[in-house]
Amino acid sequence: MTDRIAKLEIDGESYEFPVLSGSVGPDVIDIRTLYAKTGHFTFDPGYTSTGSTESAITYIDGNQGTLLYRGYPIEQLAEKSSFLEVSYLLLNGELPSKAEFAEFEEKITRHTMLHEQMVKFFEGFRRDAHPMAIICGAVGAMSAFYHDSTDITDPKQRVIASHRLIAKMPTIAAWAYKYSVGQPFIYPRNDLGFAANFLRMCFAVPAEEYVVSPTMARAMDRIFTLHADHEQNASTSTVRLAGSSHANPFACIASGVASLWGPAHGGANEACLNMLREIGSVDRIPEFIARAKDKNDPFRLMGFGHRVYKNFDPRAKVMQQTAHEVLSELGVENNPTLQVAQELERIALEDDYFIEKKLYPNVDFYSGIILDAIGFPTSMFTAIFAMARTVGWISQWKEMIDDPKQKIGRPRQLYTGATTRDYTDISDR
Ligand code: CMC
Repeated sequence: MTDRIAKLEIDGESYEFPVLSGSVGPDVIDIRTLYAKTGHFTFDPGYTSTGSTESAITYIDGNQGTLLYRGYPIEQLAEKSSFLEVSYLLLNGELPSKAEFAEFEEKITRHTMLHEQMVKFFEGFRRDAHPMAIICGAVGAMSAFYHDSTDITDPKQRVIASHRLIAKMPTIAAWAYKYSVGQPFIYPRNDLGFAANFLRMCFAVPAEEYVVSPTMARAMDRIFTLHADHEQNASTSTVRLAGSSHANPFACIASGVASLWGPAHGGANEACLNMLREIGSVDRIPEFIARAKDKNDPFRLMGFGHRVYKNFDPRAKVMQQTAHEVLSELGVENNPTLQVAQELERIALEDDYFIEKKLYPNVDFYSGIILDAIGFPTSMFTAIFAMARTVGWISQWKEMIDDPKQKIGRPRQLYTGATTRDYTDISDR
């Protein structure tokens, strides 16, 4: 709270609203009493000016290109921490002690198996199903398999549900992939780290052991860390809205998966790699830049632009460096897709249209190149994003449920439809 107030005048009548301050970032005008006082709603489709919640998890300064998880800069976490440590941090608010981390790691490792009957669930899908379709279904189905962690009023059950979701998502995502390529499911192995276990579940076959490269495991872990949370984005807001009705956590996370799937959100990494491949060679870049600038062409440069970052996306920088590490270990540094990406970035960053509109490469610009080099098909890109973001979703969900001020989310509208009219019988129409 500050002692500042905002004044609003409607039809000569003046109303006052308190201005609230967070620990950092823009102040907000508290309009919770607006309707009661004035009989008006606010109108903000796309929520470009609306703070939907108080939160102490993630902070973004889009102008500075800052991303903090619980106060820690993403660059430091990507370099020095690990995805599991970051998961603990997001869920609990502080970095773990050695003992706390060992206990957390043990819990996540021992929750990675899926109820065996879920195999049948996977087998019910068509082989050509998109992994995100399977993940949406499988995560939602978890509420039918883990009844002992669906009571949201029990704090212990809430914790178990969080651990189950973080631990089982890699198994679900890997199995969605295995199913699509017609290979047997590979069960998790408890002696491997989180990222290495996921890579093995995706790429091992019973006929041959799969040796996980530490560089690939590190790159995978970084991708998870960079995608772990991102404040009140579309999928996180979806999870919160679903959870605000006290739906069980598995159902809420399934709603987040559905929202993430769209190409303007998590689906952009898949769309971006497809675009880079379509461009194909450096000489075709100007044609695509021209299309992106053409108002009459709906084409957009995928992996460019962000609702919040208007300077640079700090995740993109780490991703670019990781792409070089992975491609150099694989000996494919002159990969044509990477060449197109680098040249496209160079040209776009010098172009007036992109400069004026503050469009910079986002996290998805390089992540697809890394995932492609590791061996994932594009259809798995968003699935991997969903796995990582599950930690953010469940942390945000937990924060909301723990908040005594929490209310069901219920936006209002500006109604522009027909006013009351009488029904006419079908024979008279
Ligand atoms: N290529 C060409 N023009 C663009 C692009 C782009 N990628 N992004 C925005 N613009 C233009 C847009 O046409 C508009 O121009 P005008 O003002 O003349 O109408 C202006 O820039 C502002 O765009 P907007 O759609 O109002 O901005 P937004 O904040 O609503 O959209 C965005 C943000 C991420 C949806 C958008 O930049 C976009 O569609 N980017 C491509 C998809 C993408 O890479 N998404 C991944 C986001 S990062 C991962 C995640 O968080 O999910």
